Amino acid sequence: MKGLILSGGKGTRLRPITHTSAKQLVPVANKPVLFFGIEAMAQAGISEVGIIIAPETGGEIREACGDGSQFGVQITYIEQDAPLGLAHAVLTAEPFLGDSPFVMYLGDNLLQGGITELVTAFEANQPDALILLTEVDDPQSYGIAALNEQGQVVRLVEKPKDPPSNLALVGVYLFTPLIHEAARAIQPSARGELEITDAIQWLVDTGRRVEPHVVRGWWKDTGRLADMLEANRLILDVIEPSVQGELIDSSVEGRVIVEPGATLTNTTVRGPAVIAAGAKVTDSYIGPYSAVGRDCVITNSEVEHSILLAGSKVLHLDGRMESSLLGRNSTIDRTPQQPRAYRFMIGDNSHVGIL
Ligand code: TTP
Repeated sequence: MKGLILSGGKGTRLRPITHTSAKQLVPVANKPVLFFGIEAMAQAGISEVGIIIAPETGGEIREACGDGSQFGVQITYIEQDAPLGLAHAVLTAEPFLGDSPFVMYLGDNLLQGGITELVTAFEANQPDALILLTEVDDPQSYGIAALNEQGQVVRLVEKPKDPPSNLALVGVYLFTPLIHEAARAIQPSARGELEITDAIQWLVDTGRRVEPHVVRGWWKDTGRLADMLEANRLILDVIEPSVQGELIDSSVEGRVIVEPGATLTNTTVRGPAVIAAGAKVTDSYIGPYSAVGRDCVITNSEVEHSILLAGSKVLHLDGRMESSLLGRNSTIDRTPQQPRAYRFMIGDNSHVGIL
């Protein structure tokens, strides 16, 4: 069994962060989303992992994941010239996958509980493909599976206006090498992509056995800001508290990690929260569901339910900052200059909300 993690794509929904960085490297509870997928592979005993990368962001993904030894796996990087769809990514990886069955994992997805149980079920039942499903409230926004009375997959539809069920496809799939034949047999969709749903539908239509598995825990696609914050919340809820940084006239309540080399001065942290090495937090309040990255500086401010990437600064804010994502080395500051006015330098496709 091999692993294939898709870490190319455009990431348009997370701009401007994705103008300069791969979305799969945006941290959740201070760990890149992509690492959770690689760790799930390692836990399931998969040692050969291929990672699909895009020409624009492949370099930093290689740098972050290296040869895989930090995870106990061996990583092969596979460049996809353009994001032409998930089934196109499978075809691009065919030389790496060969005739091996494999787990395909979308690099911006998080699945509670990992994939070990799924790999075991796949090996025991030997279907032609195993797809993961989860119940959602808004099936119009997802790829949806229709099952027959025997619980077999009969149809897959992308973002249906009239959903046949509320079972959405989760971004983790187990395939036999038949999927290559399927991906070659289908045509690009209206949006110009080779869709994995069409390839799986081809398996169903040609009488192959596609087994559904409804996931028990939570699943998150972190492609949008709200989902990213939600994933951050879910992971922070289960962190092991550990306060190793320096606390000067400060207090820490609840599930909190303060890494060695972080300094809190005259500050209250109410968990769940994580504060990375090198961060300096002074005269401030850090509220629940905050992830403060390496070398961040927070002074005389209140931050809650937010993700601050490495090197970002929040200084002398009047109100509380919440539900925010700050890119690397970005600064939010109050200046004493007159006239008293908002001053911004905002990248393309940014969003600033002011009351
Ligand atoms: P998506 O989130 O569906 O696509 P995207 O990354 O282009 O994002 P957006 O819709 O915001 O523009 O992709 C799911 C995962 O698969 C993600 O980790 C990127 C990856 N991917 C590839 O590696 N190759 C591809 O051709 C596509 C479409 C996605």
